[in-house]
Amino acid sequence: MTGESTPAVLSVHSTVGAWLAHPIGSRILADLLAQAGTDTSVLRMMRNLPLEHLLRSGGPIPEGLVESLELKVNGGVLPDPDKVESLAWRERITGGRFAGETVIVTGAASGIGRAVASRVAREGGRVVAVDLFEEKLGEFAAAHPGSEIITVAADVSSQSDVDRVLSAAGDRVDGLANVAGIMDDFSAIHEVSDEMLERVFNVNVFGLIRLSRAVVPLMMEARKGSIVNIASESALRGSSAGLAYTASKSAVLGITRSSAYMYQEFGIRVNAVAPGGTVTGIRPGTAENFGRGRVFEHNADVPLATPEQLAASITFLLSADGSNVSGVLLPSDGGESVF
Ligand SMILES: NC(=O)c1ccc[n+]([C@@H]2O[C@H](COP(=O)([O-])OP(=O)(O)OC[C@H]3O[C@@H](n4cnc5c(N)ncnc54)[C@H](O)[C@@H]3O)[C@@H](O)[C@H]2O)c1
Repeated sequence: MTGESTPAVLSVHSTVGAWLAHPIGSRILADLLAQAGTDTSVLRMMRNLPLEHLLRSGGPIPEGLVESLELKVNGGVLPDPDKVESLAWRERITGGRFAGETVIVTGAASGIGRAVASRVAREGGRVVAVDLFEEKLGEFAAAHPGSEIITVAADVSSQSDVDRVLSAAGDRVDGLANVAGIMDDFSAIHEVSDEMLERVFNVNVFGLIRLSRAVVPLMMEARKGSIVNIASESALRGSSAGLAYTASKSAVLGITRSSAYMYQEFGIRVNAVAPGGTVTGIRPGTAENFGRGRVFEHNADVPLATPEQLAASITFLLSADGSNVSGVLLPSDGGESVF
């Protein structure tokens, strides 16, 4: 082989990894990050994300930035969309996959829940979108004109709120995605507070049980239904989070297996998805503690994904595409579970 290879044609839809591997792209990213007072080592976990996602992380992308970056990286020429390389994964809608179905999605105002609710709505389902934040739910519904979306501002850990969700859903529920969840502060068992244990279990475990308990009788009557519970890598290992969160997500796995067994004869499928690191609004508590140091040793290498990638895994199990699958824990983590 002689001569230098031609640099790849890139766009903001190419992966961060492809920009880093490109002779000009890597310099552009280094300059951008230097302006923010940091360097490209912060991109280590973001190699699979589209560059566009990174640019959007601080709010709307400044006008003209996309064009100027694409011109710079491609030697002054805008990229031909057919020739762009290393495109990051993009969602592909399966038209009508949820047509005629009512699906309750919790945590629908942000992150993974929002991406699931959006995908179900765009695939023809009637969505009951549940979250604590009414205004953000309203924004979500407004962003999906033409879709049937019922928003319910509710706390899944409150029985009276769960009753309101069921009234809004009506007498038929085909799917339930239990996505709402909160993190802990990474505290280990010798330092965890009662307050942290109660807060995390109230949402991640008791809220999930309360809503499922209300929905399952409707599914038993219909002899059909699909429930997807959102667990975490911490249901697979001890190094992803603190004691409260790890125990709560391990409980989610137990709830999933018990329910998949109990209602198998009713045609109700119950599965769990274990997301790896995903770029969402979730934030751990900031307390300085022993557990935080232990967890960071592991999390430094976790590859990050987009909420839409998680929605692809979750809606697979939620929809009839998962018809032969029940009782599983599906890691959706870019391979982290083999680390
Ligand atoms: N982001 C990650 O890296 C990651 C990794 C593993 C698992 N998870 C799990 O994924 C799920 C979704 O989290 P996310 O990352 O999208 O976070 P997120 O904070 O962006 O979204 C969670 C949503 O749940 C809502 N919520 C919280 N408590 C609620 C309650 N009591 N009642 C109703 N709604 C409530 C929040 O208001 C928020 O809109 C959670 O169960 C989380 O534990 C996330």
